[in-house]
Amino acid sequence: MIRVLFVCLGNICRSPMAEFILKDLINKKDLSSYISVRSVSTSYETFGQDMHIEAKMKLDEKGIPYKKRKAKRLSKSDYIYSDYIIGMDESNISNIMKIIGDDPKHKVHKLLDFTEKPRDIADPWYTGNFSKAYDDILEGCTSLLDSIIKKYKIDLNEQELSKNELITLIEDKIYQYTQIVPEKVKVSEYLALSSKLLDTSIKRIQKNDR
Ligand code: 4NP
Repeated sequence: MIRVLFVCLGNICRSPMAEFILKDLINKKDLSSYISVRSVSTSYETFGQDMHIEAKMKLDEKGIPYKKRKAKRLSKSDYIYSDYIIGMDESNISNIMKIIGDDPKHKVHKLLDFTEKPRDIADPWYTGNFSKAYDDILEGCTSLLDSIIKKYKIDLNEQELSKNELITLIEDKIYQYTQIVPEKVKVSEYLALSSKLLDTSIKRIQKNDR
C-alpha cells in the first residue's frame, strides 16, 4: 500500500480538498487497494473542525464525494506511516520539517512540484478563492498520481477480473468479431473459425485491448 499524507496549515481547506480529489482520481482508476490518502494540519487552531463550507461547496459543484471529518494535526510518527508527505506551500514545508525534524527518505514534497510549473497553492482561507485552489489542487493531484503510477509501475493489467466480468468481455469481443466473420462458412470450417475467434479474443483481453 502506498500511503499519501496531505498537509496544510488548518486541514480544513486545501489538504482535505486534495485528499478527496486524489481519492476520486484513484477510485476512477480502480487503484484504491494500492494507494491510501489522509490529510492533516501543522497548526492546532482548527483541531476537530470539519472541512470549510466553501471547500465542500466546490467539491459538490465538481461531483467529488467527501465525508464529514475532523481536522487532525501532523505528528512526528506520521513520518513512518507515510510514503508521501505533501504540503501545499513553502510555509507548510517548513512547518512540516519543524514537526518531523528530518526527511532522510525524501518523503516531503510540495504538491505542485509534481507539475511542470512548480509553485505554491494560495490559501483560500485568506484569499477566498476556492476555485483557484481547486484548479491548482486538481492539477497537482493528477501529476502526483501519474508520478506514483510510474514510480511503482502499478500495472492495470495485473488487476483481477471476476468470472462474470471476464465472460462479459469475451462476449463483447465475440460480438465485435462477428462484424468481420464472412457471410457464409462451410460446416467443416466452422470449428476452426470459432476457435480462432476465441483465441484472438482471449489474446486481446490479455493485452487489455478493451
Ligand atoms: P488551510 O486553510 O490551511 O488550507 O486549511 C486554513 C484554514 C484555517 C486557518 C488557516 C488556514 N486558521 O488559521 O484557522
